[in-house]
Amino acid sequence: MIDLPKPFFVLAPLDDVTDTVFRQMVGSCAAPDLYFTEFVNVDGLQSPGREKLLKKLRFGPQERPLIAQLWGKIPENFYKTAQEIVAMGFDGIDLNFGCPEKSVVKNGCCIGMINNRELTGEIIKAVREGGAPLPISVKTRLGLKEIDYTWHEFLLKQSLNMLTIHGRTAKEMSKVPVHWDSIEHIRQLRDKLSPTTLIVGNGDVLTRQQGVELAKKYELDGIMIGRGVFHDPYVFASSGTGESPWITKSKSEKIALYRKHVQLFAKTWQFGERPLPTLNKFCKIYINGFDGAKEMREELMSAKSTKELLTLLR
Ligand SMILES: Cc1cc2nc3c(=O)[nH]c(=O)nc-3n(C[C@H](O)[C@H](O)[C@H](O)COP(=O)(O)O)c2cc1C
Repeated sequence: MIDLPKPFFVLAPLDDVTDTVFRQMVGSCAAPDLYFTEFVNVDGLQSPGREKLLKKLRFGPQERPLIAQLWGKIPENFYKTAQEIVAMGFDGIDLNFGCPEKSVVKNGCCIGMINNRELTGEIIKAVREGGAPLPISVKTRLGLKEIDYTWHEFLLKQSLNMLTIHGRTAKEMSKVPVHWDSIEHIRQLRDKLSPTTLIVGNGDVLTRQQGVELAKKYELDGIMIGRGVFHDPYVFASSGTGESPWITKSKSEKIALYRKHVQLFAKTWQFGERPLPTLNKFCKIYINGFDGAKEMREELMSAKSTKELLTLLR
């Protein structure tokens, strides 16, 4: 079992963003209490296309505790993958029952599982058997088109170690304010149905201080932050003043941090597993908030290799 403070802070899974490189960068700025991998499809992993997906399961010794997040449709593939996750040395397994992408939902996966509780139960059972003794958690939303607490009641009856709620329905995507009162209601259901399941709230949290206040107000065990890291890679830093160290960083410190990211990227993905343009979304994080940042970003984003990029950053 993972030992966590209260409230604890989690770096959200962000596909094509929170890979081993970015997790190490966030960890070197200010580490969260828990990391997640990007979501990995078990049906793909147990197919000939497996090699392409394995990059999502790479991790370094600093990124701990680390939860592998899985999605898919076939219980047997969840079972086999869970066995592999144990052998790879992860600290837990999370099931993505929340992704709202249309093609995925149409196929009955992720939040689409809400309409197939029998299969959901089979998947959880398969992961529990294949993934023993690791803790098992679920990340989900409030519902598909409407809020549906029968889904959360069902999940809470599965004896999960942790349940993360992004406080919107799939239909709402990220377009409306997060329904923190609904997350609170699910926490109350937890109190009745499964007191040992940790409840994590997620959605639009931009600072640690905001997370601390939300956890206190709604009596949550943890807070998950995703896009907040785009605004502040030090978002998990705890300081007495509530101010992030990021606001004190100079232009040269920000450039040095991006340089570190590019170096780590070049070292980690030597065989082109992640294409160079992947770096562009990170450029905006670091090269930001100083005079000439926009022009500098344009120049950096035109680089054709990591070598050229590192020369420009020098
Ligand atoms: C680019 C991107 C990729 C995402 N990938 C995943 C994923 O792989 N697994 C998952 O459970 N959620 C994924 N999400 C959802 C986030 O984990 C999180 O629930 C959502 O962004 C709301 O939290 P935030 O407002 O703190 O970002 C993704 C979101 C974004 C923006």
